[in-house]
Amino acid sequence: MEIITDAREMRAWTRARRARGERVAFVPTMGALHEGHLALVDIARARCACDAVVLSVYVNETQFAPGEDFDAYPRVGDADERAARARGVDCVFAPKRMYANEGEGEGAAHETYVEVAELSKGLCAKTRPHFFKGVATIVTKLFNVVEPDAAVFGKKDYQQWRVIRRMARDLDFDIDVVGGEIVRESDGLAMSSRNLLLTTENREKATVIYQSLSEAKATAERAPTTSDALVTRVSERIRDGGGEVDYVQAMEPESLTPYVGVLDSPCVIAVAAKFGSVRLLDNVEIMCG
Ligand code: PAJ
Repeated sequence: MEIITDAREMRAWTRARRARGERVAFVPTMGALHEGHLALVDIARARCACDAVVLSVYVNETQFAPGEDFDAYPRVGDADERAARARGVDCVFAPKRMYANEGEGEGAAHETYVEVAELSKGLCAKTRPHFFKGVATIVTKLFNVVEPDAAVFGKKDYQQWRVIRRMARDLDFDIDVVGGEIVRESDGLAMSSRNLLLTTENREKATVIYQSLSEAKATAERAPTTSDALVTRVSERIRDGGGEVDYVQAMEPESLTPYVGVLDSPCVIAVAAKFGSVRLLDNVEIMCG
């Protein structure tokens, strides 16, 4: 497994593989790798029919607002390297910086940003208005450096996955953006690097998120139900379980517009909830109709 920290070297690596007729898949991450990330590596090989997988590790400051958990975000360098190697990753791209003057405080020499107008509204953007601009910009930069044939994103961050798919289409990236199913702990909690920040008590309480979403899915698939009824029930369950609900929303899978009325076509119910100071995301896809 190669470890590359320089953008020019990274680009040359992919170009050499593609010159040999190989397809390269890309899994962008912020490190603190867990099974949720590593499953995307398997998907990259299986679903994208790729010969080589590049995994990037870069904690992107531009998607954190001042006061968010950028400094507290877990960083586990050597363990990440071992995990990637064990999973058969061909190349880890771990740039020290992606922006000119990065880490030097005021006056960073970066003026160009990517915004996906509609999909970046609502849901996570309500409390993190800067977030998708930061994500779309860094992913554009990573796509331009890595130049992959396909890229895999987890559906745990459902809005992010849709934003990136749309961005790739709108900006003519010749990159197949694939969504990977959510990987869960044995008690159902969606795996997340932020789970490491939960207290033992809140780690237990947080299982209510998936329990409530599973119940909603079962209810909707058993009998006709309105999206409102499901959203109300999920919100109540999470509050009763000790979580602070940021949002619970039923939405159309592609446009992410609110789903209204009785479920008779595919619908996603997405949740963001805080346990202590840790904000967790989860969702379920309900295939009615
Ligand atoms: P990060 O939170 O490290 O996640 C990297 C990728 O792993 C994302 O596509 C995320 O959706 C996926 N992922 C995380 N936990 C998962 C789980 N339990 N099941 C399935 N997929 C999971 O998302 C980011 O980093 C950043 O915003 C990034 C795209 C790298 C841009 O900085």
